[in-house]
This record gives sequence, C-alpha cells and structure tokens, in this order.
Amino acid sequence: MTDSYQPPVAEFPLLQQNPQLIYLDSAATCQVPAAVLNSYQHYFTTSHANVHRGSHRLGRTATDMLERARGIAADFIGAQPADVAFSPSTTAALNGLAQQLPVNWCAGDEILLTDAEHHANILPWQRLAMQHRLVLRFIPVDPVSGQLGEWQQLINERTRLISVTLASNITGAVFPVADLSDAARQREIPVIVDAAQAVAHTRLNVAKLDCDALVFSGHKAYGLPGCAVLYMHSRLWRRMEPFVVGGGVVSQVSRHEAELIDSIQRFEAGTPNTGAISATATALEWLQEQRQLGVSVYLQQLRQQLLSGLQQRSWLQVLPAGDVHTPVVSFYCPDIHAYDLAVWLDEHQIAVRAGHHCAQLLLQSWDLTAVVRISLAAYTTEKQVQQLLHHLDEAWQMLGPTVE
Ligand SMILES: Cc1ncc(COP(=O)(O)O)c(C=O)c1O
Repeated sequence: MTDSYQPPVAEFPLLQQNPQLIYLDSAATCQVPAAVLNSYQHYFTTSHANVHRGSHRLGRTATDMLERARGIAADFIGAQPADVAFSPSTTAALNGLAQQLPVNWCAGDEILLTDAEHHANILPWQRLAMQHRLVLRFIPVDPVSGQLGEWQQLINERTRLISVTLASNITGAVFPVADLSDAARQREIPVIVDAAQAVAHTRLNVAKLDCDALVFSGHKAYGLPGCAVLYMHSRLWRRMEPFVVGGGVVSQVSRHEAELIDSIQRFEAGTPNTGAISATATALEWLQEQRQLGVSVYLQQLRQQLLSGLQQRSWLQVLPAGDVHTPVVSFYCPDIHAYDLAVWLDEHQIAVRAGHHCAQLLLQSWDLTAVVRISLAAYTTEKQVQQLLHHLDEAWQMLGPTVE
C-alpha cells in the first residue's frame, strides 16, 4: 500500500461519532468532510439571501458565492462557467434533458444507451420514447470482461442521441465514452454523459470526452444532496428551452409571452440551493486536494486488496469490471442471498448495499437479481477491508450450506 496517503478519517464528523462504523456504501452517497459542512454553515451564517435578484449587499454576496461555485465546478470538469448550470440532482437533470433536447424526434428514431445505465438514465428516455415512438437500443456489457460489447454497429443513420454512464454503479467499470463520442461526432449525434459514479474517481474533462452534456450529483463527490453540476455545450443549451420556467430566467414578460435570458442561468429557474451549491464547490476543492495527496492511487491499491481477498473466497463470485475502474466491487454468493449477507454485515456495523442498485438491466442481462456492492472512499482504511473479509467468512460459516 502507498504509505504517503493517510485516509483523512478525522475530517469526517459522522465517522468520528461512529468509530465502529465501517461505511462501504460511498457509491450511493459519500460521507461529508467537516470543511464542506462548515462551508454550508458559513453560507447560512454570513451570506444567505436570494441570488440574482437582490439590489442589496447580502443578495450580491449570495450571488457571488453561487457564481464562485460555478467557476469551481466548471474548472473541475475543464469547462467554461458560462456552460455550467446547477440542478437539484443528476436524476432531475437527465429528466430535463430528455424533455427539452432540441431534437425534432420522428417515430423510429433511435437512442443509444448501455445495459449498465442507472435507472435515472433509462426512465427519462423510456418516457420520451413513449411520447414519440422512439426505439431505445442498449450496448451490452460483456459478462467476462465487464466492458462494453460491440457498439459500433449500434450507431446508424437512425441514431439521434447517445446517453451513457461513464462508470457502472455496480461493477465500477469505466467505459470508453470518448471513443463513443468520436463515432457520434462523425454523424453529428449528441452525446450525454452520466458522470455520477465517475466524478469522485476519474478526472473529468468535457473537452476530452467531447460530449454535449455531462452531469453529476455533488453528494457522490463528498458534497451535499440537492445540488448537481450540469455541463452543456453552448451548441446545445443555446438551442434548448429551460427544463422549468419561472423567476430568474426571463428578461421580459408580457401577459402572453416571455423572453428568456441569454445565459446558462436560464436553466436555474426559482431559488437555487445556494448553500448546498457552495458547499459542493468546497467538496470539489477538497477532492482536488486529496488527489494531490494521492487518494486515487491509494483507492486503486485498496480496491486491489479487496478484490484479491474476495477472489480468494471460492464461494463468492465477483463481477468483472475490466482494466479501468472506480473503487467499487460487487459480488454474489450462489448459496446466500445478497440481502442476508448485507444484514449480517450490518449487524457487525458494516454498511454495504445489496440489491439491483437501480441498474436492473445489467443484472438481468447477466441473469442475476441481487448483488452486494462494496464501494470505497477516501476515508476507507485497509483495516476496514480486512474486517469486511473477516465478517464475510463468518457469514459463510453461519449462513452457508452445512456440510454433513
Ligand atoms: C450512475 C448513476 N446515475 C445517476 C444516479 C442518480 O443520482 P441522484 O440520485 O443523485 O440523482 C446515480 C445514483 O446512484 C448513479 O449511480
């Protein structure tokens, strides 16, 4: 293991208050460092007012904080602040995109997804497909390599949109989205990237991904729920109607029509969650610092330890991820239900997630119904991984089949 990175457990108040807890569910939501909580409190104790409206000083301070957060978020993904909007969640942003994309849909047009999508990147397209009689196509995920199967031939003259996750929330596999974008660009097909699982573990760069939109939730990157970062290329957002309309998005309103403002803020109607937004910006800065301290290498080494430990237990089947992955590993035991394993671990203060993880398609395509997912984060320690393996062995002894 790298000796240079020390998991900053002391920076996480929840973990400090629950020293016995082994939290291995960070892919669902990360625990929050004190710096982020302080930033939230700082906003409400020093700067809280409504934004973009106030002619008073406090309103201007709140607006400055929101715009500063936009700059930090844009920097984090290699975008211009003018192309970054805040949304309540990845789910809300994907729904908004699905309903407002400036595409003149015709029956039979195709949308390309993968079998690894989270339901948040399936249901909005299913709804759109019902509205316009579109066809959804899915890139399979290879059950041996864990990587995308043949996708080249799934892009054709009927393909009007590609919307894919950069990393699987079940296996942790990181997919070659830049290659997909490259193929899509040749046919002028817009590409949307769901970066919810990738944000904490890969260096996002919208220019390298060459995507038209990219979204992630702050709470998947040590930030707060209630805030997602939505990048949209100007060629997209300039031609798109806001997802919701109301205050803050218009320059002129008459009784029967309204003129929209000519900036990305038109995707932020209503009062934004400025406290969560500025705290999430602090989280992104915090994460950048951890990267400089070596968190990425640390987590890949820790994942490798976890993986080897799981693979040594022949009674467990580990799902494949391929060579590029986030520190997430899922497995199942043919003889013990995933929920029973999770309950057993929970009894021993180990929080893991069991089930279909809101990505039923992947499990269905691999003939599975439920798996246990272990997801690591900056605060996970080597000792905790060993404790997990130890308690899994106990579970096998207690819950596994009895040998006569
Ligand atoms: C890949 C992926 N996409 C989308 C989402 C939805 O994110 P949120 O619940 O923050 O909207 C998740 C959440 O787990 C996810 O893992």
